[in-house]
Amino acid sequence: MNKHILENLDLLTSALTSLSAQKKWLDSKWFYDNAGSAIFEEITELPEYYPTRTEVAILNKNIDQLQQYIPDGAALVELGSGSSTKTRILLDKFDNLNAYLPLDISEDFLKHSANDIAIQYPNLIVDPLVADFMSPFEFPTNYMDRTKVAFFPGSTIGNLEADKAINLLASVHRWDKISAFIIGIDLVKDTNILIQAYDDAAGVTAAFNLNILRRLNREIGANFDLAQFKHEARWNTEKSRIEMHLVSLVAQTVEIGTKILTFAAGESIHTENSHKYTRESFEQIANQSGWNIRKFITDEDDLFAIAVLSPK
Ligand code: TRP
Repeated sequence: MNKHILENLDLLTSALTSLSAQKKWLDSKWFYDNAGSAIFEEITELPEYYPTRTEVAILNKNIDQLQQYIPDGAALVELGSGSSTKTRILLDKFDNLNAYLPLDISEDFLKHSANDIAIQYPNLIVDPLVADFMSPFEFPTNYMDRTKVAFFPGSTIGNLEADKAINLLASVHRWDKISAFIIGIDLVKDTNILIQAYDDAAGVTAAFNLNILRRLNREIGANFDLAQFKHEARWNTEKSRIEMHLVSLVAQTVEIGTKILTFAAGESIHTENSHKYTRESFEQIANQSGWNIRKFITDEDDLFAIAVLSPK
């Protein structure tokens, strides 16, 4: 069966299940179709969205310090490659790396960006690996006994619930010959700064959130009226996270095939979480999963951190 049909089937099954739950939700992996990925790039450039530019600045400013954690001949393994702007900061400096292995579930995107890197860094072996880093996967046999450094920028770990974040840290810790883990962490801060970063004045984040409904309409024939839903970013103090919601403005029904979904006015679809850490709360989950913090580098406003972990 063709890949497209299988993916739509996957989306259909996933959406029907999560939208039939008592508290409606959608899996955030569905955000990133072509339109969604393009809007996300726009988010990263918004004045209110501080994480990307802050992380890039921390990497640029501290790249000499970071190099001391890169053993000669190591392979740099990136979890979920996305836009490779941040990777290039590392590759430009770490000339003692032997190989770069970007991991991603989206094959086309991965092959494309790996190819660009291979052209720009002719001395580097580039071995893209189609894998879901949340599930067990095998390295190619020639990498089994190679020293590895893991790289996970973007505070993507914040999009995982605490137990999943611990699972991820623990599974990277189990890799053969892993020597360091460089990871981006978004920090707890003034709630207004956080809310604005996820609900910008220009409405780009709102468009990103609503795009998931447009995708359901297009790919599985749902009939969401986008004008009847509104984007909302909420701070959940107890869980130390920003939550993204799509709130139904009126009482309404939406059809997906023969399934009829009922929405009360004010009822929401929960679409994403972005957990924020302190050094202490991050250290706790890192320690629990076998890591020590070697370095915790922040910007001068303590907005964001790059942590360097090494196995205990
Ligand atoms: N990893 C990003 C973050 O949590 C993803 C993101 C940014 C996002 N803005 C968003 C996800 C808006 C959903 C909606 O910061």
